Amino acid sequence: EKDGHDWFMRKEIFEQPRAVADSLIGRRGVGGLLQLDEMRLADEEIRDLDKIIIIACGTSFYAGMVAKYAIEHWTRTPVEVELASEFRYRDPIVDHTTLVVAISQSGETADTLQAIRHAKSQRAKVLAICNTNGSSIPRESDAVIYTHAGPEIGVASTKGFLTQLVACYLLALYVAQVKGTRYGDEINEIMGQLEAMPGHVETVLEQAESVYELARAHVDARSVLFLGRHAGYPVALEGALKLKELAYLHAEGFAAGELKHGPIALVEDGLPVLCVVPPRGRDQLHGKMLSGIQEVRARGARTICLAEEGDEKIVPYADHLIRLPEVPVLLQPLVAIVPLQLFACELASALGHDVDQPRNLAKSVTVE
Ligand code: M6R
Repeated sequence: EKDGHDWFMRKEIFEQPRAVADSLIGRRGVGGLLQLDEMRLADEEIRDLDKIIIIACGTSFYAGMVAKYAIEHWTRTPVEVELASEFRYRDPIVDHTTLVVAISQSGETADTLQAIRHAKSQRAKVLAICNTNGSSIPRESDAVIYTHAGPEIGVASTKGFLTQLVACYLLALYVAQVKGTRYGDEINEIMGQLEAMPGHVETVLEQAESVYELARAHVDARSVLFLGRHAGYPVALEGALKLKELAYLHAEGFAAGELKHGPIALVEDGLPVLCVVPPRGRDQLHGKMLSGIQEVRARGARTICLAEEGDEKIVPYADHLIRLPEVPVLLQPLVAIVPLQLFACELASALGHDVDQPRNLAKSVTVE
C-alpha cells in the first residue's frame, strides 16, 4: 500500500502533483467564473466582511500564514492568523462581520474545534478548510472547502499542506471575485498559474535524489536554520517543523529580515542554513534576501539555497543550490516546501527514525 516507497510520508510527498490537481478540479464554472460548491456563504455575507481571522495549528497554521499574504493582496480584506490554542483565551474581537477560517487536515483538532465554537458564540461566520469529510470541524462550520489530498497517513503533514494552500488561494480568489477587488481576466490568469502547479511540483520532485544526497550529508548536524521572506517565511517555518518532528533536530525558521535583530548570533562555522529565495520578479525582496544570505555565509554558515531557475545572482552565495520553477511569489510555497519535505524525510530515515510515527506525536491531536 506504500506503492514501493519505504514510508507513507515519501509516498504522500510524491502524490502531491495529483493532490494539487484534484483540489483544483471543478472550480471553474460557467463563463470561467470561480465556483466553490460547498461554500454556503451568500455573496451578501462575503461583501459585508470586515475582516478574516484564520485559526489553525502546526502545519495548517503555516498554510494560514501564506493565505494572509494572498487574501490581503487580492481582496484588500484585513486578515489575522492565529494559533487556535491562543485564540479564545485572549478575548478576540469577533462579530457577525468577521469570517473565521479554520484550517485543519483532520477536522478533529481539539484546539481548532474549541476556537470555532468560541467564534460562533460571538456570531462570527465560520468556514472550514478540511481534508476529512464529515469530521467535527466542517460539521460545526457554516461553510466548508474540502481539500482533495486523499487520506494522509504519515504523521507529518505533506500533501495536506499543499492542498490547504490551494484551498486558501481559491478562497482568496473567490472573495476577490465577489467583492470585485480583482477582475475576471486576472482571476483567470491566476487560475491558469495554479493549474500549472502540479507540473511544477513534478519538476521539483525530479530532483529528489540530489536532495536525498544532501540530507544524508547532514546526519551529524546539531542544528539547522531556515530563512525566508514574504510567502517564503511560512515555508521556512514549515521546513523547520518537518525537521523537528522527524529528525528530532533543533531547527528554527526565521524571517530573513529579522536576522540582524538577534538570530544571526546563532550562526557559527558549518551551521547549515536553508534559504528560500524569492523570485527575481520581486526585485527588492530578492535583493534583500541575497544580502541576508551573504551575511550568514560571511559568518561561516553553509548555505543551501532554493532559488528559481535562471537566478544567476544567487550562485556565488550558495554552497548548494536547489532549483525551483519560475512561479509568482505568492504561489512559490507550493514548490518551495517540496525539497524541504524530502530533506526532512530522508534525514530522519538516515538517522534510523520511524518517519511515519515520530516519537511523542499523534496524527490528530484531540486533546487541548
Ligand atoms: O489536522 P490538523 O491540520 O488540524 O493538524 C494540525 C497539526 O496538529 C498538524 O499540522 C501537525 O503540526 C503535523 N504533525 C505537522 O506535520
